[in-house]
Amino acid sequence: MEPVTILIIDSSENSDLKQRLHRRSEFSVVGSTSSTDIGFTMAERFQPAIILLNIDTPGEEGLAAAEAFALEFPASSLILLTESDNKKILRHALQVGAKDVLTLPVPDTKLYSCLNKVMQMDLRRRELFSIQKKSRPEFKVITVFNTKGGVGKTTISLSLAVALKQKTSARVVLVDLDLFSGNIALMAGVEPRRTIKDLIDDINILEQDVLDDYLVNHKSGIKIVPAPVNPEFASFVEAEHVEKIIGMLSEVFNYVIIDAPTFFSDTIIPALEQADDIVIVSTADLASVQNLKQVLDLLGNLGMRNKTRIVLNKVGYTGHLKIQDLEKQLNLKIDYVIPNVEKSAIDAINMGIPLINYDSSSAAAQKIKEMATKLMASEKEKSETVFSFLKRR
Ligand SMILES: Nc1ncnc2c1ncn2[C@@H]1O[C@H](COP(=O)(O)OP(=O)(O)OP(=O)(O)O)[C@@H](O)[C@H]1O
Ligand SMILES: [Mg+2]
Repeated sequence: MEPVTILIIDSSENSDLKQRLHRRSEFSVVGSTSSTDIGFTMAERFQPAIILLNIDTPGEEGLAAAEAFALEFPASSLILLTESDNKKILRHALQVGAKDVLTLPVPDTKLYSCLNKVMQMDLRRRELFSIQKKSRPEFKVITVFNTKGGVGKTTISLSLAVALKQKTSARVVLVDLDLFSGNIALMAGVEPRRTIKDLIDDINILEQDVLDDYLVNHKSGIKIVPAPVNPEFASFVEAEHVEKIIGMLSEVFNYVIIDAPTFFSDTIIPALEQADDIVIVSTADLASVQNLKQVLDLLGNLGMRNKTRIVLNKVGYTGHLKIQDLEKQLNLKIDYVIPNVEKSAIDAINMGIPLINYDSSSAAAQKIKEMATKLMASEKEKSETVFSFLKRR
C-alpha cells in the first residue's frame, strides 16, 4: 500500500513529529514547516492525505488558520495539535472541520493510532462521497534568458516577479543566477544580506522549513535570492547546486522567477530544463534579432522551443524593421511587446525601484502586468481566499 502522505505545520519547540513519523514506513512526510504561510503553499503543492497543524499561536490565529485549511483543503484530513486541554478550544477545533485534536506532548502509540483512525475514516468518507481534490494552483518556474546583454532581462524579471505577487496571493521568489555580475539586489533596492552563496554552502543540510531565512525580503512581498557579493564564488557553482536550489524553491513557492546570465553555461541548463516557461528578452535592432534567431535555434535543438516565449523590449522607433515583418522573416511569434521608456527605466534602476512600481501607470508597466497575467496561464486569478488575511510577508 502507498504510504499515507502527511504535511506537518508545527512551530512548537522540540517538535520531533517529523523524525518520529519518518521511522514508520506507512507514513510519508511530504513537508514540514513552522510557518502556516509556507504550509499553505505546501498543502497546495502536495495535496497531502493528512495535515497536522499546530494551533498554539497567539490569540485566535491558530483556530482561524485551522478553519482556513479545512475549507481550502477538504480532501486532506486535518488533525490539530495543541498543548492546551481547554475544552472550549477542542470543541471549537472540531467545529471548524478538523478530524481530530492531539494534545502535546503526544506519545507514539496515541499519535499512530490517531493517524490510522483518521485514515480509516477518510477511506470510508471517500467510499460514500466523491471528494474532489482542489484543482492545483499554478506552480511555475519561469526563466528569463538571452545571450545578449543589456536588453532588459533584469528589469523585466524583477517587474514580472512583483506583478505576479500583486496579482495573486501566491509566494513568489526571484533568483539572480547572473553569478558574475548579477544586480537584482541593487535594482530592487535591497541589501544582499544573504545570497545564493549561503544557499549553496548549506545545500546538503537545508530543509524547506528554514529556506525563507536564506532569502531577502522585498517590500512588494516577493523574496529574492541575490547573486554572490564576491563574483569569484561563481566558479564554485555547479549545475547540480542550481538544480537542487530550483527544486527546493519550487516546492515552497508558487512562482520561481530566474534571471539567467548572458552566456550559455552548464549552470544555466537546469534553469532552462526546470523552467515551465523560458522568456527570451530581445530588442528590435538587427544585431539583437540575429542573436535572437541563434538563441531560438539553440533552444530548438535542446527541445525547449515549445515552452519559449519572446519579449521584444524597449520598442519605440524600429526603423525599417516592422514587428510583423520580423515575425514573418523569422517565422516566429513575438508574444509580448514592451515599449521604450528610457527615462523611467534608468530612474527606476538608480532609485532601486522595480520599473512597474516606479511608474505603475506607464505603458511599459501595463504591458508587464499583461505579460504576468498571460504567464499565469490556466490559473484563475486567486480571489481573496479565507487564508489571505493570515498571510504575513
Ligand atoms: N522598456 C525599457 N525601455 C527603456 N529602457 C529600458 C527598458 N527596459 C530596460 N531598459 C534599460 O536597459 C538597460 C539594461 O537593462 P537590464 O539591466 O534590465 O538589462 P539586462 O539584459 O539584464 O542586462 P545585463 O545583460 O547587463 O544583465 C538599463 O539601462 C535599463 O534602464
Ligand atoms: Mg541583468
